[in-house]
Amino acid sequence: MSLHVPVLLNESLKYLITDKSGIYFDATIGYGGHAAEILKTLNSNATLVGTDKDEKAYKHCKEKFKNDSRVKIFNTGFTEIKRVSMIQFINAYDGIFADLGVSSVQLDDGLSGFSYRTDSPLDLRMDKTKGKPASYVINNYPLEKLTEILKKFGEVRNAHRIAAKIVEARASKKITSTLQLRAIIEEIIPKYKSYKILSKIFQAFRIYVNNELDELKQFLTDAVDMLKPGGRLVVISYHSLEDRIVKETFKYETLSCVCPPETPVCVCDKQKRLKILTKKPVTPSEEEIKINKRARSAKLRVAERI
Ligand SMILES: C[S@@+](CC[C@H](N)C(=O)[O-])C[C@H]1O[C@@H](n2cnc3c(N)ncnc32)[C@H](O)[C@@H]1O
Repeated sequence: MSLHVPVLLNESLKYLITDKSGIYFDATIGYGGHAAEILKTLNSNATLVGTDKDEKAYKHCKEKFKNDSRVKIFNTGFTEIKRVSMIQFINAYDGIFADLGVSSVQLDDGLSGFSYRTDSPLDLRMDKTKGKPASYVINNYPLEKLTEILKKFGEVRNAHRIAAKIVEARASKKITSTLQLRAIIEEIIPKYKSYKILSKIFQAFRIYVNNELDELKQFLTDAVDMLKPGGRLVVISYHSLEDRIVKETFKYETLSCVCPPETPVCVCDKQKRLKILTKKPVTPSEEEIKINKRARSAKLRVAERI
């Protein structure tokens, strides 16, 4: 049985691997779907460093790759790329890969609250040892803050109305489970749109409790620092907020000057560090989407270090 079907697999490999004996970083190793295929392509003297915040995913990959001395795995966030590389005496990579978001296993685990389809505690953290669970946010944050989270991280229309409904409901009973939150929200949203709206609401709380967007920005900048000239940064995102950050960071790294237009001579010292290899994002084929529904929103962008 397959635990998690890797998305845009052939496309990712094609862009990522430029040297079969090189050093690679899989920032979101998950259940090792992409990693296993990367390793099949690489020679015996190559290296693959992997990170994942989720302890179960980490343990799974530790076991999966225990007999492969090319693999080093760390149970930590990808913002630790510089630290884990230093521990391995690695100062630059031939390729860095990130497949953002959550895995199918996390969506189905019934413990983390990532899906509004199965009943589970409203946690939504990938690393359960850090920060506060979503239930804390939902039961304690003031109306204005909840509205802001729904707007900013879920682009939810009627964010204020939905936040007000949450505040009203929690006054009579603490909100602790996914299905409880779903039922509260379904009282005020049209039925035909409910899945779309619920996805956005759960996405908003997930992004907030994991600090996903700030961590992605930091990771991308650090990843550019950590690439060899000619090395590739390959990123798959699953929603517009993530994709915008990838697109804008890549664009920024292609600029050789960021001085205001009125400045007579450049004083910014900005270095052009990337060349974009995918003018438009690569998206999955109809066939891939048919086999793997999770792929439908995927966008892959690639840039090369100059
Ligand atoms: C879409 S899955 C990756 C699946 C993987 N490519 C595979 O084929 O099995 C995303 C993974 O990224 C992890 N993750 C999300 N944010 C992370 C972060 N900031 N640092 C490290 N891992 C992260 C999640 O825990 C999850 O396991």
